[in-house]
Amino acid sequence: SLGIKRYLITEEWLKDKLPIRKANSHKGTYGHALLIGGSKGMPGAPTLATMAALRSGAGLTTVVVPKSIQAMVFSHVPEAICIGSNETSTGHLDFSTLAPLITNSQKYTALGIGPGMGVWDHGLTELRKVITSYSGPLVIDADGLNLLSKNPRLLLERNGVTVITPHPGEMARLIGKDIQYVEQNRLQVAHEFAKTYQVYLVLKGAHSIIATPQGELYLNTTGGPELAKGGTGDVLTGMLTGFLAQRLPVLHAVLLAVYLHGVAGTLASKPSNYSTLARDLVEQIGYAIQQIV
Ligand code: APR
Ligand code: MG
Repeated sequence: SLGIKRYLITEEWLKDKLPIRKANSHKGTYGHALLIGGSKGMPGAPTLATMAALRSGAGLTTVVVPKSIQAMVFSHVPEAICIGSNETSTGHLDFSTLAPLITNSQKYTALGIGPGMGVWDHGLTELRKVITSYSGPLVIDADGLNLLSKNPRLLLERNGVTVITPHPGEMARLIGKDIQYVEQNRLQVAHEFAKTYQVYLVLKGAHSIIATPQGELYLNTTGGPELAKGGTGDVLTGMLTGFLAQRLPVLHAVLLAVYLHGVAGTLASKPSNYSTLARDLVEQIGYAIQQIV
């Protein structure tokens, strides 16, 4: 219907999209992922995203969180560079200290923002600085999208590739409709938004949809209800940022992340899909990759 080009994401197509790691490579070969998120009481989301970026092969991963939770995040991912930023009185990120980091965009080969970031008064003004000053590939998720929903047109100010990963609730807020509308019109909603704002859009949920700025749609079939638990979306954001940091073509990075995230879910659903944790997904990323290389 609608004359939109649609494709299924297949293992066969993905097989040669993840490059073999060369013997004489070093961490610089695999890029530097930057993750920004977290707030008082929400250290878990950026932690999971950071672990997932590292497990997806990024050479270096830096995570920026409000300083009051920096030690907590760092204690769970010693492999990451963990920066504690200044924070507001409410325990949210104070971006004034981040500006120099982000503007030096040559250093970071991909940036993921939003997990656990919270929503606060000046949040969108702050987020706008990232949107306009970082010109590498940018992933916006979770509260980054909730802030953005006040003015999605800011996406048109990007000068670099943008990937957004809304769940149906976040998608509904972005377009000012209710969740039921989104769920009943998943393909059209994703297609229209991606074209209008020239972004790659992952509309999450059972059978996630990927819509490209060019107007194609890709359907994912991996993963199941084991993924219906807090934190699994943060793992996807980390995988996506990790693959983009490695300078993969954007479409390849998006399709690989969504597909492998689902495979990791299936692998982590043993012995029971009741008990799967987001951190179990992180542990399975390597086994998921093994299935397609
Ligand atoms: N089948 C397949 N995949 C599923 C299913 C299912 N039945 N249920 C969930 N998933 C997948 C989604 O496609 C997505 O990749 O699990 C992931 C869930 O992501 P989110 O909805 O973002 O969940 P979460 O990790 O809890 O988000 C963390 O960010 O979105 C905000 O408010 C949210 O505080 C929460 C935080
Ligand atoms: Mg989420």
